[in-house]
Amino acid sequence: MVTKSKLSIRFSFTPFSKRQLQVMFWWQSPEYEDKFAIIADGSVRAGKTVVMSTSYVRWAMMNFNGVNFGMAGKTIGSLRRNVIRTLKKILISEHYRVKDNQSENMLTVSKNGNTNYFFLFGGTNEASQDLVQGITAGGFFFDEVALMPESFVNQATSRLSVEGSKVWFNCNPGSPYHWFKLNWIDRLAEKKAIRVHFLMKDNPSLSQDTIDRYESMYSGVFYKRYILGQWSVADGIVYDNFNQDTMVVDPPADTVYTKNWVSVDYGTQNPTVYHLWSLHDGVWYNRAEYYYSGREKGHQKTDEQFVDDMETFFSANELSKTDTNLIVDPSAASFKRSLKNRGFTVKNANNNVVDGIRFMMSQMNAGKMKWTSSSKHALKEFNSYVWDEKAAERGEDKPVKEHDHVMDADRYFAMKVLRKPKKTRNIRLYKEGL
Ligand SMILES: Nc1ncnc2c1ncn2[C@@H]1O[C@H](COP(=O)(O)OP(=O)(O)OP(=O)(O)O)[C@@H](O)[C@H]1O
Ligand SMILES: [Mg+2]
Repeated sequence: MVTKSKLSIRFSFTPFSKRQLQVMFWWQSPEYEDKFAIIADGSVRAGKTVVMSTSYVRWAMMNFNGVNFGMAGKTIGSLRRNVIRTLKKILISEHYRVKDNQSENMLTVSKNGNTNYFFLFGGTNEASQDLVQGITAGGFFFDEVALMPESFVNQATSRLSVEGSKVWFNCNPGSPYHWFKLNWIDRLAEKKAIRVHFLMKDNPSLSQDTIDRYESMYSGVFYKRYILGQWSVADGIVYDNFNQDTMVVDPPADTVYTKNWVSVDYGTQNPTVYHLWSLHDGVWYNRAEYYYSGREKGHQKTDEQFVDDMETFFSANELSKTDTNLIVDPSAASFKRSLKNRGFTVKNANNNVVDGIRFMMSQMNAGKMKWTSSSKHALKEFNSYVWDEKAAERGEDKPVKEHDHVMDADRYFAMKVLRKPKKTRNIRLYKEGL
Protein backbone atom coordinates (compact mmCIF):
# COMPACT_ATOMS: atom_id res chain seq x y z
CA MET A 1 0.00 0.00 0.00
CA VAL A 2 1.25 3.49 -0.82
CA THR A 3 1.20 5.74 2.23
CA LYS A 4 0.14 9.37 2.15
CA SER A 5 3.65 10.66 2.77
CA LYS A 6 4.97 8.61 -0.13
CA LEU A 7 2.29 10.00 -2.41
CA SER A 8 3.15 13.58 -1.51
CA ILE A 9 6.71 13.14 -2.75
CA ARG A 10 5.61 11.71 -6.09
CA PHE A 11 5.32 13.76 -9.26
CA SER A 12 3.58 12.49 -12.34
CA PHE A 13 3.96 14.26 -15.66
CA THR A 14 1.11 14.84 -18.06
CA PRO A 15 2.40 13.60 -21.47
CA PHE A 16 4.86 16.21 -22.72
CA SER A 17 4.05 18.76 -25.39
CA LYS A 18 6.17 18.95 -28.56
CA ARG A 19 8.29 21.79 -27.19
CA GLN A 20 8.77 19.99 -23.90
CA LEU A 21 9.88 16.87 -25.75
CA GLN A 22 12.45 18.95 -27.61
CA VAL A 23 13.89 20.24 -24.34
CA MET A 24 13.74 16.80 -22.78
CA PHE A 25 15.67 15.00 -25.50
CA TRP A 26 17.75 17.55 -27.46
CA TRP A 27 21.03 16.27 -26.05
CA GLN A 28 20.23 12.76 -27.30
CA SER A 29 19.59 13.96 -30.82
CA PRO A 30 22.48 13.53 -33.34
CA GLU A 31 21.32 16.76 -34.98
CA TYR A 32 22.41 18.76 -31.93
CA GLU A 33 25.52 16.79 -31.06
CA ASP A 34 27.83 19.80 -31.46
CA LYS A 35 25.59 22.19 -29.54
CA PHE A 36 26.78 23.71 -26.30
CA ALA A 37 23.69 25.51 -25.03
CA ILE A 38 19.91 25.33 -24.92
CA ILE A 39 17.61 28.28 -24.30
CA ALA A 40 13.92 27.95 -23.43
CA ASP A 41 12.31 31.36 -23.29
CA GLY A 42 8.70 32.50 -23.45
CA SER A 43 5.47 32.95 -21.51
CA VAL A 44 4.92 32.39 -17.82
CA ARG A 45 3.71 28.95 -16.68
CA ALA A 46 4.65 27.45 -20.03
CA GLY A 47 6.34 24.38 -18.56
CA LYS A 48 9.93 25.47 -19.23
CA THR A 49 11.49 25.05 -15.81
CA VAL A 50 10.03 21.70 -14.87
CA VAL A 51 11.07 20.01 -18.06
CA MET A 52 14.45 21.71 -18.41
CA SER A 53 15.55 20.93 -14.86
CA THR A 54 14.54 17.28 -15.29
CA SER A 55 16.30 17.04 -18.64
CA TYR A 56 19.42 18.66 -17.16
CA VAL A 57 19.77 16.10 -14.38
CA ARG A 58 19.00 13.17 -16.70
CA TRP A 59 21.68 14.41 -19.11
CA ALA A 60 24.20 14.83 -16.29
CA MET A 61 23.46 11.43 -14.80
CA MET A 62 23.64 9.57 -18.10
CA ASN A 63 26.91 11.15 -19.20
CA PHE A 64 29.00 11.81 -16.09
CA ASN A 65 30.06 10.28 -12.81
CA GLY A 66 31.68 12.07 -9.87
CA VAL A 67 31.31 15.49 -11.53
CA ASN A 68 30.10 18.83 -10.15
CA PHE A 69 27.22 20.72 -11.76
CA GLY A 70 25.81 24.18 -11.13
CA MET A 71 22.19 25.25 -10.80
CA ALA A 72 21.32 28.92 -10.40
CA GLY A 73 18.18 30.93 -9.73
CA LYS A 74 17.80 34.62 -9.06
CA THR A 75 18.34 33.75 -5.40
CA ILE A 76 18.95 30.38 -3.78
CA GLY A 77 15.54 30.78 -2.11
CA SER A 78 13.71 31.27 -5.41
CA LEU A 79 15.70 28.40 -6.98
CA ARG A 80 14.64 26.08 -4.18
CA ARG A 81 10.99 27.18 -4.37
CA ASN A 82 10.61 27.29 -8.15
CA VAL A 83 12.89 24.46 -9.22
CA ILE A 84 14.40 22.18 -6.59
CA ARG A 85 11.23 21.38 -4.66
CA THR A 86 9.51 19.85 -7.71
CA LEU A 87 12.72 18.47 -9.18
CA LYS A 88 13.39 16.39 -6.07
CA LYS A 89 9.91 14.86 -6.33
CA ILE A 90 10.44 14.07 -10.00
CA LEU A 91 13.83 12.49 -9.41
CA ILE A 92 12.56 10.39 -6.53
CA SER A 93 9.58 9.27 -8.64
CA GLU A 94 12.07 8.23 -11.32
CA HIS A 95 14.11 6.18 -8.86
CA TYR A 96 17.08 8.51 -8.41
CA ARG A 97 18.59 8.77 -4.94
CA VAL A 98 18.70 12.41 -3.85
CA LYS A 99 20.45 13.76 -0.78
CA ASP A 100 19.87 17.46 -0.17
CA ASN A 101 22.59 19.05 1.92
CA GLN A 102 20.70 22.20 2.93
CA SER A 103 23.57 23.91 4.72
CA GLU A 104 25.96 23.50 1.78
CA ASN A 105 23.23 23.98 -0.84
CA MET A 106 24.28 20.87 -2.65
CA LEU A 107 22.30 17.91 -3.97
CA THR A 108 23.98 14.55 -4.30
CA VAL A 109 22.17 12.54 -6.95
CA SER A 110 22.80 8.84 -7.65
CA LYS A 111 21.43 6.28 -10.07
CA ASN A 112 22.78 3.15 -11.74
CA GLY A 113 26.16 3.48 -10.04
CA ASN A 114 26.71 7.12 -11.05
CA THR A 115 26.84 9.92 -8.49
CA ASN A 116 27.05 13.62 -9.29
CA TYR A 117 26.93 16.80 -7.23
CA PHE A 118 24.62 19.73 -7.98
CA PHE A 119 25.64 23.00 -6.35
CA LEU A 120 22.94 25.66 -5.94
CA PHE A 121 23.67 29.34 -6.54
CA GLY A 122 21.82 32.65 -6.42
CA GLY A 123 22.76 34.76 -9.43
CA THR A 124 22.12 38.07 -7.71
CA ASN A 125 23.99 37.10 -4.59
CA GLU A 126 27.57 38.40 -4.38
CA ALA A 127 28.76 35.47 -2.30
CA SER A 128 27.57 33.17 -5.10
CA GLN A 129 29.63 35.13 -7.58
CA ASP A 130 32.73 34.38 -5.52
CA LEU A 131 31.80 30.75 -4.92
CA VAL A 132 31.20 30.08 -8.57
CA GLN A 133 34.80 31.02 -9.36
CA GLY A 134 36.02 28.09 -7.33
CA ILE A 135 34.08 25.31 -9.03
CA THR A 136 34.89 23.23 -12.08
CA ALA A 137 31.65 22.03 -13.56
CA GLY A 138 30.28 19.72 -16.21
CA GLY A 139 27.23 21.88 -16.78
CA PHE A 140 25.31 24.88 -15.58
CA PHE A 141 21.55 25.40 -15.43
CA PHE A 142 20.13 28.91 -15.09
CA ASP A 143 16.49 29.36 -14.10
CA GLU A 144 15.16 32.85 -14.91
CA VAL A 145 18.47 33.89 -16.41
CA ALA A 146 17.13 37.29 -17.51
CA LEU A 147 16.96 38.28 -13.83
CA MET A 148 20.67 37.71 -13.32
CA PRO A 149 23.64 39.94 -14.11
CA GLU A 150 25.64 38.99 -17.18
CA SER A 151 28.83 38.94 -15.11
CA PHE A 152 27.53 36.01 -13.04
CA VAL A 153 26.55 34.02 -16.11
CA ASN A 154 29.92 34.68 -17.72
CA GLN A 155 31.77 33.62 -14.61
CA ALA A 156 29.72 30.47 -14.31
CA THR A 157 29.99 29.45 -17.97
CA SER A 158 33.75 30.05 -17.93
CA ARG A 159 33.98 27.28 -15.28
CA LEU A 160 32.68 24.66 -17.71
CA SER A 161 35.96 22.93 -18.44
CA VAL A 162 34.80 19.31 -18.38
CA GLU A 163 34.71 17.60 -21.79
CA GLY A 164 31.16 17.54 -23.16
CA SER A 165 29.87 20.24 -20.82
CA LYS A 166 26.71 22.16 -21.67
CA VAL A 167 24.81 25.18 -20.46
CA TRP A 168 21.05 25.42 -19.97
CA PHE A 169 19.03 28.60 -19.80
CA ASN A 170 15.38 29.46 -19.31
CA CYS A 171 13.61 32.76 -18.77
CA ASN A 172 10.66 34.99 -19.50
CA PRO A 173 11.43 37.69 -22.06
CA GLY A 174 12.44 41.20 -21.09
CA SER A 175 13.52 44.17 -23.19
CA PRO A 176 14.83 43.51 -26.73
CA TYR A 177 17.99 45.32 -25.56
CA HIS A 178 18.49 42.99 -22.61
CA TRP A 179 22.01 41.49 -22.49
CA PHE A 180 20.66 37.95 -22.70
CA LYS A 181 18.65 38.73 -25.82
CA LEU A 182 21.54 40.53 -27.52
CA ASN A 183 24.37 38.19 -26.52
CA TRP A 184 22.69 34.79 -26.58
CA ILE A 185 19.33 34.71 -28.35
CA ASP A 186 20.50 36.91 -31.20
CA ARG A 187 23.76 34.95 -31.54
CA LEU A 188 22.63 31.34 -31.48
CA ALA A 189 25.01 30.06 -34.17
CA GLU A 190 28.08 31.70 -32.69
CA LYS A 191 27.18 30.44 -29.21
CA LYS A 192 26.38 26.95 -30.53
CA ALA A 193 22.98 27.27 -28.93
CA ILE A 194 19.51 26.08 -29.77
CA ARG A 195 16.41 27.98 -28.75
CA VAL A 196 12.97 26.59 -27.97
CA HIS A 197 10.29 29.23 -27.66
CA PHE A 198 7.40 28.45 -25.30
CA LEU A 199 3.83 29.68 -24.96
CA MET A 200 1.33 28.70 -22.27
CA LYS A 201 -0.26 26.25 -24.67
CA ASP A 202 3.00 24.28 -24.56
CA ASN A 203 2.23 23.34 -20.97
CA PRO A 204 -0.06 20.29 -21.22
CA SER A 205 -1.08 20.57 -17.57
CA LEU A 206 -2.73 24.02 -17.81
CA SER A 207 -6.49 24.22 -18.22
CA GLN A 208 -8.05 26.78 -20.55
CA ASP A 209 -9.47 28.55 -17.47
CA THR A 210 -6.00 28.99 -16.04
CA ILE A 211 -4.66 30.28 -19.35
CA ASP A 212 -7.58 32.75 -19.54
CA ARG A 213 -6.91 33.91 -15.99
CA TYR A 214 -3.26 34.64 -16.76
CA GLU A 215 -4.17 36.43 -19.96
CA SER A 216 -6.50 38.77 -18.09
CA MET A 217 -3.89 39.54 -15.47
CA TYR A 218 -1.24 41.16 -17.64
CA SER A 219 -1.40 44.29 -19.77
CA GLY A 220 0.83 46.42 -21.97
CA VAL A 221 4.45 45.42 -22.15
CA PHE A 222 3.90 42.70 -19.54
CA TYR A 223 1.22 41.08 -21.71
CA LYS A 224 3.60 41.02 -24.65
CA ARG A 225 6.35 39.49 -22.56
CA TYR A 226 4.58 37.13 -20.17
CA ILE A 227 1.68 36.02 -22.35
CA LEU A 228 2.90 36.40 -25.92
CA GLY A 229 6.46 35.56 -24.91
CA GLN A 230 7.95 38.44 -26.91
CA TRP A 231 11.09 40.40 -26.06
CA SER A 232 9.45 43.80 -26.14
CA VAL A 233 10.31 47.29 -25.13
CA ALA A 234 8.58 49.18 -22.33
CA ASP A 235 7.50 52.39 -24.04
CA GLY A 236 4.64 54.86 -24.06
CA ILE A 237 2.11 55.15 -21.25
CA VAL A 238 2.92 52.92 -18.27
CA TYR A 239 -0.64 52.14 -17.15
CA ASP A 240 -2.06 51.63 -20.61
CA ASN A 241 -4.68 49.36 -19.06
CA PHE A 242 -6.26 52.29 -17.21
CA ASN A 243 -9.87 52.58 -18.31
CA GLN A 244 -11.75 55.68 -17.23
CA ASP A 245 -15.12 54.02 -17.88
CA THR A 246 -14.65 50.98 -15.70
CA MET A 247 -12.00 52.07 -13.20
CA VAL A 248 -13.43 55.41 -12.08
CA VAL A 249 -16.53 54.79 -10.02
CA ASP A 250 -18.17 56.92 -7.33
CA PRO A 251 -19.78 54.64 -4.74
CA PRO A 252 -23.01 55.99 -3.15
CA ALA A 253 -22.47 58.42 -0.27
CA ASP A 254 -23.85 55.98 2.32
CA THR A 255 -21.38 53.21 1.38
CA VAL A 256 -19.91 51.49 4.41
CA TYR A 257 -16.17 50.91 4.24
CA THR A 258 -14.64 48.19 6.36
CA LYS A 259 -10.96 49.15 6.18
CA ASN A 260 -8.89 52.23 5.40
CA TRP A 261 -5.26 52.85 4.47
CA VAL A 262 -3.54 56.08 3.51
CA SER A 263 -0.60 55.85 1.13
CA VAL A 264 1.86 58.69 0.94
CA ASP A 265 4.37 59.98 -1.56
CA TYR A 266 6.44 62.63 0.14
CA GLY A 267 8.29 65.47 -1.55
CA THR A 268 9.63 68.83 -0.45
CA GLN A 269 10.20 70.46 -3.85
CA ASN A 270 8.14 67.78 -5.54
CA PRO A 271 4.47 67.27 -4.70
CA THR A 272 3.35 65.44 -1.58
CA VAL A 273 0.38 63.13 -2.00
CA TYR A 274 -1.93 61.39 0.47
CA HIS A 275 -4.33 58.89 -1.02
CA LEU A 276 -7.09 57.37 1.09
CA TRP A 277 -7.92 53.79 0.09
CA SER A 278 -11.13 52.29 1.52
CA LEU A 279 -12.49 48.77 1.19
CA HIS A 280 -16.07 47.99 0.24
CA ASP A 281 -17.27 44.60 -0.90
CA GLY A 282 -13.85 43.35 -2.00
CA VAL A 283 -12.93 46.52 -3.92
CA TRP A 284 -10.60 49.28 -2.76
CA TYR A 285 -11.69 52.81 -3.67
CA ASN A 286 -9.45 55.84 -3.65
CA ARG A 287 -12.04 58.11 -2.12
CA ALA A 288 -9.94 61.11 -1.05
CA GLU A 289 -6.81 62.80 -2.29
CA TYR A 290 -4.46 65.38 -0.79
CA TYR A 291 -1.95 66.94 -3.19
CA TYR A 292 0.45 69.78 -2.41
CA SER A 293 3.16 71.00 -4.76
CA GLY A 294 5.63 73.37 -3.08
CA ARG A 295 6.99 74.31 -6.49
CA GLU A 296 3.58 75.23 -7.94
CA LYS A 297 2.46 77.09 -4.81
CA GLY A 298 5.82 78.90 -4.49
CA HIS A 299 6.02 77.85 -0.87
CA GLN A 300 7.56 74.77 0.70
CA LYS A 301 5.96 73.22 3.76
CA THR A 302 7.87 71.85 6.74
CA ASP A 303 7.41 68.28 7.96
CA GLU A 304 5.33 69.58 10.86
CA GLN A 305 3.04 71.44 8.48
CA PHE A 306 2.59 68.28 6.41
CA VAL A 307 1.71 66.38 9.59
CA ASP A 308 -0.83 69.12 10.41
CA ASP A 309 -2.30 68.54 6.95
CA MET A 310 -2.44 64.81 7.65
CA GLU A 311 -4.39 65.51 10.86
CA THR A 312 -6.84 67.62 8.84
CA PHE A 313 -7.06 64.91 6.17
CA PHE A 314 -7.90 62.35 8.88
CA SER A 315 -10.61 64.46 10.48
CA ALA A 316 -12.14 65.50 7.14
CA ASN A 317 -12.47 61.80 6.24
CA GLU A 318 -13.46 60.63 9.72
CA LEU A 319 -10.42 58.39 10.06
CA SER A 320 -9.00 57.25 13.35
CA LYS A 321 -5.30 56.90 14.04
CA THR A 322 -5.87 53.56 15.73
CA ASP A 323 -7.61 51.96 12.74
CA THR A 324 -5.94 53.62 9.78
CA ASN A 325 -2.28 53.05 8.99
CA LEU A 326 -0.05 55.03 6.67
CA ILE A 327 2.24 53.61 3.99
CA VAL A 328 5.21 55.87 3.34
CA ASP A 329 8.23 55.62 1.06
CA PRO A 330 11.12 54.37 3.24
CA SER A 331 13.32 57.28 2.12
CA ALA A 332 11.13 59.93 3.84
CA ALA A 333 12.89 59.39 7.20
CA SER A 334 12.32 62.71 8.95
CA PHE A 335 8.69 62.97 7.83
CA LYS A 336 8.02 59.47 9.12
CA ARG A 337 9.50 60.39 12.50
CA SER A 338 7.26 63.46 12.70
CA LEU A 339 4.20 61.36 11.85
CA LYS A 340 5.06 58.77 14.50
CA ASN A 341 5.62 61.48 17.11
CA ARG A 342 2.02 62.55 16.60
CA GLY A 343 0.59 59.06 17.01
CA PHE A 344 0.27 57.88 13.41
CA THR A 345 1.16 54.28 12.57
CA VAL A 346 3.59 54.27 9.67
CA LYS A 347 4.44 51.25 7.51
CA ASN A 348 7.33 51.24 5.05
CA ALA A 349 6.41 51.05 1.40
CA ASN A 350 8.01 48.52 -0.95
CA ASN A 351 9.67 50.62 -3.62
CA ASN A 352 10.40 47.94 -6.20
CA VAL A 353 9.13 49.99 -9.14
CA VAL A 354 8.70 47.56 -12.02
CA ASP A 355 7.36 44.69 -9.91
CA GLY A 356 5.01 47.20 -8.28
CA ILE A 357 3.72 48.49 -11.60
CA ARG A 358 3.14 44.99 -12.92
CA PHE A 359 1.37 44.01 -9.74
CA MET A 360 -0.80 47.13 -9.64
CA MET A 361 -1.80 46.54 -13.27
CA SER A 362 -2.93 43.02 -12.41
CA GLN A 363 -5.00 44.36 -9.50
CA MET A 364 -6.59 47.00 -11.73
CA ASN A 365 -7.43 44.32 -14.30
CA ALA A 366 -8.93 42.15 -11.58
CA GLY A 367 -11.19 45.05 -10.53
CA LYS A 368 -9.63 45.29 -7.05
CA MET A 369 -8.65 48.99 -7.29
CA LYS A 370 -10.96 51.82 -8.36
CA TRP A 371 -10.55 55.56 -8.43
CA THR A 372 -13.28 58.15 -7.90
CA SER A 373 -13.98 61.73 -8.97
CA SER A 374 -11.91 62.77 -5.93
CA SER A 375 -8.81 61.23 -7.52
CA LYS A 376 -8.08 64.36 -9.57
CA HIS A 377 -4.32 64.13 -9.85
CA ALA A 378 -4.36 60.36 -10.24
CA LEU A 379 -6.52 60.72 -13.33
CA LYS A 380 -4.05 63.25 -14.77
CA GLU A 381 -1.02 61.12 -14.03
CA PHE A 382 -2.50 58.01 -15.62
CA ASN A 383 -2.33 59.90 -18.91
CA SER A 384 1.16 61.32 -18.47
CA TYR A 385 3.19 58.68 -16.61
CA VAL A 386 5.43 57.13 -19.30
CA TRP A 387 8.31 54.67 -19.70
CA ASP A 388 11.76 56.20 -20.14
CA GLU A 389 12.83 55.71 -23.77
CA LYS A 390 16.52 56.40 -23.11
CA ALA A 391 16.62 53.79 -20.34
CA ALA A 392 14.79 51.36 -22.63
CA GLU A 393 17.60 51.66 -25.20
CA ARG A 394 20.00 50.48 -22.50
CA GLY A 395 17.72 47.49 -21.84
CA GLU A 396 16.36 48.97 -18.61
CA ASP A 397 12.67 49.16 -17.68
CA LYS A 398 12.22 52.48 -15.93
CA PRO A 399 9.43 55.06 -15.92
CA VAL A 400 10.28 58.74 -16.36
CA LYS A 401 10.41 60.31 -12.92
CA GLU A 402 7.77 62.92 -13.73
CA HIS A 403 4.04 62.91 -13.14
CA ASP A 404 4.70 59.95 -10.88
CA HIS A 405 3.72 61.11 -7.39
CA VAL A 406 0.20 59.75 -7.18
CA MET A 407 1.28 56.77 -9.25
CA ASP A 408 3.93 56.00 -6.61
CA ALA A 409 1.50 56.39 -3.71
CA ASP A 410 -1.01 54.05 -5.37
CA ARG A 411 1.68 51.50 -6.16
CA TYR A 412 2.84 51.56 -2.52
CA PHE A 413 -0.73 50.84 -1.49
CA ALA A 414 -1.11 47.94 -3.92
CA MET A 415 2.17 46.32 -2.90
CA LYS A 416 1.56 46.72 0.84
CA VAL A 417 -2.10 45.86 1.14
CA LEU A 418 -3.13 43.75 -1.85
CA ARG A 419 -0.09 41.56 -2.24
CA LYS A 420 -0.44 38.28 -0.37
CA PRO A 421 1.99 37.80 2.51
CA LYS A 422 5.31 36.26 1.69
CA LYS A 423 4.80 32.64 2.52
CA THR A 424 5.86 29.42 0.92
CA ARG A 425 4.96 30.06 -2.69
CA ASN A 426 5.76 33.75 -2.46
CA ILE A 427 7.95 34.28 -5.50
CA ARG A 428 5.56 32.49 -7.77
CA LEU A 429 2.46 34.29 -6.44
CA TYR A 430 4.22 37.61 -6.41
CA LYS A 431 5.32 37.25 -9.99
CA GLU A 432 1.88 36.21 -11.04
CA GLY A 433 0.22 39.08 -9.29
CA LEU A 434 -2.06 36.85 -7.24
N1 LIG B 1 4.15 17.90 -18.58
C1 LIG B 1 3.73 18.34 -17.37
N2 LIG B 1 3.10 17.54 -16.50
C2 LIG B 1 2.68 17.96 -15.29
N3 LIG B 1 2.85 19.21 -14.85
C3 LIG B 1 3.47 20.07 -15.66
C4 LIG B 1 3.95 19.70 -16.96
N4 LIG B 1 4.51 20.78 -17.55
C5 LIG B 1 4.41 21.77 -16.65
N5 LIG B 1 3.78 21.37 -15.53
C6 LIG B 1 3.47 22.19 -14.34
O1 LIG B 1 3.03 23.47 -14.78
C7 LIG B 1 3.51 24.48 -13.91
C8 LIG B 1 4.32 25.51 -14.70
O2 LIG B 1 5.48 24.89 -15.21
P1 LIG B 1 6.90 25.60 -15.07
O3 LIG B 1 7.12 26.14 -13.72
O4 LIG B 1 7.89 24.64 -15.59
O5 LIG B 1 6.65 26.77 -16.09
P2 LIG B 1 7.64 27.95 -16.54
O6 LIG B 1 7.54 28.04 -18.02
O7 LIG B 1 8.98 27.74 -15.97
O8 LIG B 1 6.92 29.19 -15.90
P3 LIG B 1 7.57 30.62 -15.44
O9 LIG B 1 7.99 31.31 -16.69
O10 LIG B 1 6.40 31.27 -14.79
O11 LIG B 1 8.70 30.31 -14.53
C9 LIG B 1 4.33 23.79 -12.84
O12 LIG B 1 3.53 23.56 -11.71
C10 LIG B 1 4.70 22.48 -13.50
O13 LIG B 1 4.96 21.47 -12.56
MG1 LIG C 1 10.12 28.89 -14.68
